[in-house]
Amino acid sequence: MHIHLLEKIWLIFGVAMLAIFLTIIGISAFASGNQPPSDATLIDPTKVDQTKPFDKPGLKKIDDNRYEAVIVSQAFQFTPKDMVIPKGATVDFLVTSKDVVHGFEIVKTNVNMMVVPGHINSIEYTFKEAGEYLVVCNEYCGNAHHMMATKIKVVE
Ligand code: CUA
Repeated sequence: MHIHLLEKIWLIFGVAMLAIFLTIIGISAFASGNQPPSDATLIDPTKVDQTKPFDKPGLKKIDDNRYEAVIVSQAFQFTPKDMVIPKGATVDFLVTSKDVVHGFEIVKTNVNMMVVPGHINSIEYTFKEAGEYLVVCNEYCGNAHHMMATKIKVVE
């Protein structure tokens, strides 16, 4: 098979670029310890109310400027509603579902998770700006899916 010289050059260039790109992505991901939000922790979705820490959903202070938000989602609400968090605090969100797949998105942040029943879905976020943050479910979960929302108030 005859391959034109210019085509050969482009082929080599393309493959080399791909290799360089994947190498950089790979090395930087390992170097900075990047991981997808963990959903490796399992829970029995029929016993959410009896399982720690979801037996007591809410916001807990765990350290200086560090909080844990334990949240239960079910059609069509998040428990607890309307949390108040001090500005600058880092919050570990632990979210599970009692019924179907829900979403957990804090609008205008990079917090956006699928809440899968049977899993404890977690993500952390630092609230650097005060204000009211809207939390919405962004996975269609039934008739009142569009009503499924809550708020996080970040105060000075
Ligand atoms: Cu829950 Cu949509």
